[in-house]
Amino acid sequence: MRHLLISLLVAAVAVTATAQGNKADYRVVPLPDRIDGIKGADFRLTEQCLVNYPAGDRNMERNAAMLSQYVEEMTGMHLSTRPTVNTKDRTGNISLIIDPKVNGDEAYSILVTPKGVEISGKTAAGVFFGIQALRKSLPVGTAQAINLPAAQLVSNPRFGYRGMHLDCSRHFFSVATVKRYLDIMALHGMNRLHWHLTDDQGWRVEIKKYPRLAEVGGWRNGTTLGHNSPVNDGIRYGGYYTQEEIRDIVRYAADRYITIIPEIDMPGHMLGALAAYPELGCTGGPYEVWGKWGVTDDILCVGKDHTLQFVKDVLDEVMQLFPGEYIHIGGDESPRVRWQECPLCQQRIRDLGIKSEGKKSAEALLQGWFTTQIQDYLAAHGRRIIGWDELLGCDVDPSATIMSWRGAEPGAEGAKLGHDVVMTPVGPLYFDYYQTSSTWNEPTAFGGCNTLEKVYNFEPVAEDLPADKRHHILGAQANLWTEYVTCEPQVQYQVLPRMAALAEVQWIQPEAKDYQDFKTRLTRLVDIYKLYHWTYRAKSLVEEDEEK
Ligand code: ACM
Ligand code: ZN
Repeated sequence: MRHLLISLLVAAVAVTATAQGNKADYRVVPLPDRIDGIKGADFRLTEQCLVNYPAGDRNMERNAAMLSQYVEEMTGMHLSTRPTVNTKDRTGNISLIIDPKVNGDEAYSILVTPKGVEISGKTAAGVFFGIQALRKSLPVGTAQAINLPAAQLVSNPRFGYRGMHLDCSRHFFSVATVKRYLDIMALHGMNRLHWHLTDDQGWRVEIKKYPRLAEVGGWRNGTTLGHNSPVNDGIRYGGYYTQEEIRDIVRYAADRYITIIPEIDMPGHMLGALAAYPELGCTGGPYEVWGKWGVTDDILCVGKDHTLQFVKDVLDEVMQLFPGEYIHIGGDESPRVRWQECPLCQQRIRDLGIKSEGKKSAEALLQGWFTTQIQDYLAAHGRRIIGWDELLGCDVDPSATIMSWRGAEPGAEGAKLGHDVVMTPVGPLYFDYYQTSSTWNEPTAFGGCNTLEKVYNFEPVAEDLPADKRHHILGAQANLWTEYVTCEPQVQYQVLPRMAALAEVQWIQPEAKDYQDFKTRLTRLVDIYKLYHWTYRAKSLVEEDEEK
């Protein structure tokens, strides 16, 4: 009898402990702009709650289904979704609401009262980011009920461009891996995937008019080991995405309010295409898809009209696949030694009357002319170009958006010239760099050291940028080049948890940032990484790296 009593007591204590543990905590990553407590009892979330969405709104229907799925993954509770027209149905439930009064296109507002939960946005995208915030506030683990303290949350992202980049040329990643990368982005409130699809080491997008791009340009005969060691593994390596797969990925991203910006890098980083169609180069080849890393002198010959036609044909198909406004046309690391020697490129320079100007060689200005041809072509189809900061050295039109990678200074210069700019400087936003100064026990990375804290403390808008130029800084993005990243766990390891730090750069106002506070909130985000079996650098949660 005494035994039974003690067992009952222990059980009662255990139940209470679970109930206390099952409380939502709204201090998530990225931190909402405001979390205001409201007088009143907690809302009790149980399986009896429904997820209401406005009847007839397909985006909101999908949002509701995703919220239901997230809650089930996190807690085991299954919430049914229901189309509603009547606000009376809100009592006792979670309701997704389009509300034009919410301030900001991607902003959200969450109202929790004892009677129910309302997630509102001006747009379905805003509601989706609210869903992410609510999801992150729930404790991970099987539960019968979760208490949500009465509160009002609001958040409006600081930047409209909140990006991540993924290089699928140096190593090729499956459709499933790319989709998981999008899932990770969604959890972090990001909205742009810059997808690097072509490069010297492999062409990864099916182009129907030029089938050899994928069939030949998509494969290399081996890969150097390590940092361009003399040893090549001799293993044929490659792959590409069919147009059907790309459409599927673009749709998957759009369902998560992520726009994919494809990059077709030109006129450099083009060996994949040159191997397939050697006539596109100045020398005519033969060329091989590269099995080493770096920058090659072999680039597109822009003296040939055929090359321009080729690029336009490729972009025609790319535009069909990717509905977003931006097409990334690269423009980085294009040596001009072949152009200096090429009679056709030199003839083009003469025909156009191009003369070197100060530090800008005639060949640099030839790249500018080529870029402008492509820019105009895309503009005629309602699209805009984005390119690496080398474009600033080629006199391109200010309507080209610049991606600042060789530091933040080119971006600030570009903004002063009137270019829109996305900040993605090597320090600290190259996530192919190490995450620690103590690299002996780390997977091989490019080099450098971009710690979690460095990422957190990055400020995209230079202090001395004039007030009337600040709006040109559209946002920030981290880049994952994959020379040394061969598999999905390594992809995730390089970006997690640094994406969490970047998310706060992208979402919250600088004065609201606090690294130590972020780290306490990060542990609960990491519970979600664990739930999905994502690989992440656990040491970044505990260590303080001297090299900040
Ligand atoms: C780059 O890292 N070459 C843009
Ligand atoms: Zn040429």
